[in-house]
Order: sequence, then C-alpha cells, then structure tokens
Amino acid sequence: MSYPYQITSLEQYHRDYQKSVDNPQDFWGSVAENFLWRKKWDKVLEWNFTEPKVEWFKGGKLNITENCIDRYLPTMGDKPAIIWEPNNPEDRVRIVTYNRLHKRVCQFAQVLKNNGVKKGDRVCIYMGMVPELAYAVLGCARIGAIHSVIFGGFSAQSIADRLEDAQAAYIVTCDGAYRGNKDIPLKSVIDDALIGNKTVKRVIVYTRTRTPVSMIKGRDVWWEDEMEYAETQVEKDGVVSFPSEEMDAEDPLFILYTSGSTGKPKGVVHTVGGYMVWTNYTFVNVFQYQPGQIHFCTADIGWITGHSYIVYGPLSAGATSLMFEGVPTWPDAGRFWDIVEKHKVDILYTAPTAIRSLMGFGTAPLQGKNLSSLKKLGTVGEPINEEAWHWYDEHIGKKQCPIVDTWWQTETGGTLISNLAGVTPAIPSWASLPMPGVQPLLVDEKGNEITEKDEHGMLKGNLCIKAPWPGILRTTYGDHERCRTNYFATYPGLYFTGDGALKDDQGNYRITGRVDDVLNVSGHRIGTAEVENAINMHAGVVESAVVGYPHDVKGQGIYAYVIFSGHHGDDASRRQDILQTVSRVIGPIAKPDKIQFVNGLPKTRSGKIMRRILRKIAEGEVSNLGDTSTLLDPGVVDEIKNGKL
Ligand code: WT7
Repeated sequence: MSYPYQITSLEQYHRDYQKSVDNPQDFWGSVAENFLWRKKWDKVLEWNFTEPKVEWFKGGKLNITENCIDRYLPTMGDKPAIIWEPNNPEDRVRIVTYNRLHKRVCQFAQVLKNNGVKKGDRVCIYMGMVPELAYAVLGCARIGAIHSVIFGGFSAQSIADRLEDAQAAYIVTCDGAYRGNKDIPLKSVIDDALIGNKTVKRVIVYTRTRTPVSMIKGRDVWWEDEMEYAETQVEKDGVVSFPSEEMDAEDPLFILYTSGSTGKPKGVVHTVGGYMVWTNYTFVNVFQYQPGQIHFCTADIGWITGHSYIVYGPLSAGATSLMFEGVPTWPDAGRFWDIVEKHKVDILYTAPTAIRSLMGFGTAPLQGKNLSSLKKLGTVGEPINEEAWHWYDEHIGKKQCPIVDTWWQTETGGTLISNLAGVTPAIPSWASLPMPGVQPLLVDEKGNEITEKDEHGMLKGNLCIKAPWPGILRTTYGDHERCRTNYFATYPGLYFTGDGALKDDQGNYRITGRVDDVLNVSGHRIGTAEVENAINMHAGVVESAVVGYPHDVKGQGIYAYVIFSGHHGDDASRRQDILQTVSRVIGPIAKPDKIQFVNGLPKTRSGKIMRRILRKIAEGEVSNLGDTSTLLDPGVVDEIKNGKL
C-alpha cells in the first residue's frame, strides 16, 4: 500500500501547495480519487463564506466505515487496526485486527438498528477509552447516525445540555471508567443527566469496571447482551456483513461540542466526505505515515484530536492506532515510555501540557526505557514553549525524530498549519507552514491585512483563513446563524480562528494564543463566560469575572475574581463550595485554580467589565495597567491589586 498524495520533499510541498491554491478543484479531486466512493461527486467544491455554505465532493456517495475498514479487509484483515493498552499495565493488551474491527462495528451497527436508531439520529457517546468506544463511533457512522461524543470529564448538567441541544434519543455509555487510580462512575453521571429527560429512549451500557449501576427497565440495556444477539444476525457461516448506509458526502458525520467566548458550548458539525479526505490527508502527510508503523495519539476520543487522529485519520489510512485507557502519570511518570517500549511505537503525538508535566519528574522515569522505535514526534492543543520542545527533542526523540507542531481546532477537523515530519523544516515553537489548501491571512482589528512588520521583522495579527479546506466545519448544530456570527462575521469573507499569530519572511506561522475570551487549560478549551456562569450559580455569589494566567504545566490557569455576599462559611470553605458548583455545572476540568474575593470589579461607565486589567493583575503585571481613567470606580483596582493571590 502507498499513498500517492504523500508529499516526500520540500520542493513537492511547495509545488502541491501552489497547485492546491491555484486549482483546488483539480487538486482535491485527485486526492479524493484514492478513496472508495459508491458514486463519484458531481462537483469538488462549492462555497461562499457569507451564509456560510461549503460543499465538498457534492453529489458523491460513500460510507466512511467502508473507507476505514472494508477496503482494507482483503489485503490487511489480519493487521492490527487498534492496539489497546489498558489503564493497569498488568492487564491484558487487546489487539483489534481489521477483520475483528469489521466484525465488531457490524455487530454494533446491528445493535443500533435493533434499538431503533436510524440514519440522521443523534447518538450521544459517553465512555472511557476502551475499544468499544471506537466500535460505537464507527457503528454510528456505518448506519449514518450522527455521533456526539462527550468527554468523560464533563458533568451531568453538561451532558443534559448537549442531549437537549442535539435532541439525542440514544446514549452509549460504560458502567464506569478507569483513569489512573480513579474509577469514574459514568453511568451514574448519565442517570443524573437523565433526571426529567423525556427524549432519551435507550441507554446502552458497556461493562468495564463492574461498579454497581441502576438499570431502568425499558430504557437501559447491556452492551454485551445486545452484541451477543447481534452476532447471530450479522454472522452467517463465518461470514460477517452488515450493509453500510449510503451517505451523501455532505451528510453530517458527527457533532462535537466546543466552547466559545459566549454562551453555552456549540455543536460543531463535520460531514462525511470532506472530513474523511482531510483527516486522512493530514495524517499521512504531517506524520509521514508509512504502512506498518504504530501511531500513538495520547488524546481522548472525547476531543477532536481523538476523533481525527486515533479513529478516522489513521484507520482510513489502514494504519495501526494505539489507544491508551489511562493517564501519563500512573502507576508512575514513566508510563508513556513503557508503552512506547512495549508496543514499539513509531509515532508519538501528545500535548505540550503532558510534556511539561512529565518534564517536571526529571529524567529518572526515562532510565532504562528503550525508545529507539520512535521515528516521529508531534504536539497539539496549545503553543509549545521552547524549553518543553527541546526536552521532547533531546530526551524523547534523542535528536533523531522530527517534531511536528500541529495547529488546528475542533472546527478545522484536522491540522491546518504544521511542518511535515522530516520533509519541511521544524522550528521550535512555530507551527510553521500551512497545509496544502490552507490560505492563512493575518488581519488587524478592522479586518485589514497586516503588511507592516513589527520590530522583530514579523507580521503580527489575528489569524484568519481565506478559503475552505475539506475539513472545515459546516455549521453549528441547530443554529446556523451562530456558526456565521462566531466564525464568519467578525471579518466578512474570512474564517476567523480566534487565535493570534506571527508570520516570518519565509511564510512560517507562530501561534501566540487566543485573542478572544477563550482559555486553553491543559490543551482543553474553556470559555471564560461559561466558567463565570457556573460560578454565578453558587448561591452566595453576586458577580464574577474569569481570566487566564500563565501556568507552568497547564499553559493557562483559571483565575476567578468573585464578589460574594452572604455569611455562610469562611473564605476557604466558600472557595470549596464554588469549586464544587463549577464541577457540578461544567465538570472538574473547569475548576478555577485561583479564586480571589473582591468587593467590586473594574467596570466602564457602561457597565462592561474591563478584563484587560483583570488579566494583567492575574498575570502579575501590576505596575503597568494602562489607561484606567474610563473606569466607573478606579478605586477597586487598588483593592484587587492588593488582594492578588
Ligand atoms: C485551540 C483549539 C486541535 C486539537 C486540540 C485543541 C490552540 C491548538 C495548537 C498549536 C498553538 C494551538 C489554539 C486553537 N492550539 N493547537 N499547535 N499551537 N496553539 O482543539 O479545543 O478546538 O482548541 O487550541 O488556540 O484555537 P480545540
């Protein structure tokens, strides 16, 4: 097997990039030829960013699971598709071949059908990192149901909101999940989310931890029972089959909720054809994947990174994807290195926050670990600082492995800006060059292109993209107007990423971080407004303001300024109560690192909170707060400064 669209030299990168910009129709048409289509598309691309409306491979008919599984069965049926490493290193590894994956996905597709799920129905998936999660996702795709995976760290309330928004009638979950020394009772969280819910008809429960669960008659069924029965339906004389649904290239494949600067998380919608081509193309090119290599992406499938680079990208390329149930620091901080050695991992793709956290343990956990199988390293999720980059390069890659710094977003489906491992140059802390098909543009506040270099000879501005690539989001579920205002209205005619960036003379990009009110905490995206809303739900809280501040391990920490009234408890217990409230409303990942009680917040005369000032104080930059003359009550600033944590 080979990938005719794999870029193998710097010259070819430039050539392909130029082609993709000059003639996107031809370029992506010829990439898409390498996939399995039931019917070829009528037109490669039709678009405008005004509505916005983007259609790739319009009229094309396909099923993504045939591209991820069936087409590899004749030649690679016995090759591992998924290698599963359990939380507990003493437990049995599971190797899922393409044949086995096919069988399980067919079986689960049949289970969904038996339970009344039809094409276009939304299925919410709330599971730990077990192979069954991949079967569930692909089973949905096989029958054309729209999956909405929710990360296991979100609360019952967050799940309830997402179920409601997507009008989901089906849930797939586990009794519990193992993560390090923790045992997370997933089904019990689902039960809380379902109190008062009238739309959910069926909950399918996979047994992982054998923690006691309540099973409601007529609503809840066991995965194992359902799969056993489905097996008798899909397997006849040793031959497994379950016909996959014929999907339009522009039919939705999944919804994934993500935070923005305002309101509740929005359901980003990706469609079948473009997303498939984009995740596959970027996987093959960024990591320079060679058949047989073992790809270890450490993300959770609850986030876009797991969707694109554990499931769809690798499997559509016939790769071997390593899926890890646990956490990097359990039973000790050498776990990743044990996994690399045990499974002879070729490609390791992780987050800067994980690297920084492991760096904190020094090199002792690396002693005696054989990492010689590693060929390529990658990072994703947040800017990587140079210190972490060099540690990764020196201690993990032993200076033999190219590092790719992949910049992208939930909304972009796959990587937009990154070097290609060993093919285009790596520059520490620079995402570097755009992928073919990606046309970045730096603009100022008014949307004018930046043309003046700063004192370091760099262009600096807000990062936008001029034209669609196949993996761009198509809408936000149930609210297209929200998609337009969020991404396409700030700068008319452009997709606005929400990030700031620098560009050098060679055309390399360095992402500097969000320019909106979105935080990036340990590579997880959290809106400040969302955290404020959660804090404000606590009975004693009058008002709050949340900002980010630099955090050594997490990248950004969450700093909350809170006006509290009421007499219950002291500051310490009030803090605990607020943290508990945030955990309940959003999930533990959104808990503030610091909570400062204040008597007032800096506001303009029109009542707008001046976050710029609060951000500076949280960052420890108290001497230069800029212009505070427009404040309603400049006195509050001194009080806040003096009380800084
Ligand atoms: C935001 C998107 C992409 C999957 C994981 C996060 C930040 C992402 C990088 C990088 C600097 C990065 C951006 C982006 N980000 N990758 N390589 N360098 N920043 O997906 O939750 O949708 O968050 O993560 O700020 O906008 P997400």
